Amino acid sequence: MSAARAPFSPADLMREAVKARATSHSPYSRFPVGAALLGASGKVYLGCNVENASFGLTCCAERNAVFKAVSEGERQFTAIAVTARTGKGAPPCGACRQVMAEFSPQMWVYWRDSGTRLLKKRLSALLPDMFNFPQSGGRGR
Ligand code: THU
Repeated sequence: MSAARAPFSPADLMREAVKARATSHSPYSRFPVGAALLGASGKVYLGCNVENASFGLTCCAERNAVFKAVSEGERQFTAIAVTARTGKGAPPCGACRQVMAEFSPQMWVYWRDSGTRLLKKRLSALLPDMFNFPQSGGRGR
């Protein structure tokens, strides 16, 4: 019988985010960011920020991790860990909060303060009153 896999702790997930940061493409800001997204399946998806010479085309680490996971069929998320270099706290930006909330508004978000302390909050606390597309109304109903 195979042993049950130990669940990822916040520190474990943060270690994965540090690995993800190593592949960041951030020659313009020189602000590498890594994200590790834990799916309900137990699989971890890594993402880094990918910048572009046309600055507005840059995509954050968190969104790259979410888009990777969703493209592979994962739709429910338990937690995400986000890290910039030590001394640079990196809670997710507003755009990434909205993208994550599309799928799992109750998921945990882990990041570091300006030191090395790990902080955690539920996404719903970081993004109260998220935008939802009005499913009814607007069409005379
Ligand atoms: N960045 C992220 O990857 N995640 C965030 O939540 C905020 C910012 C990236 C985008 C850009 O490459 C660099 O950090 C500086 O803004």
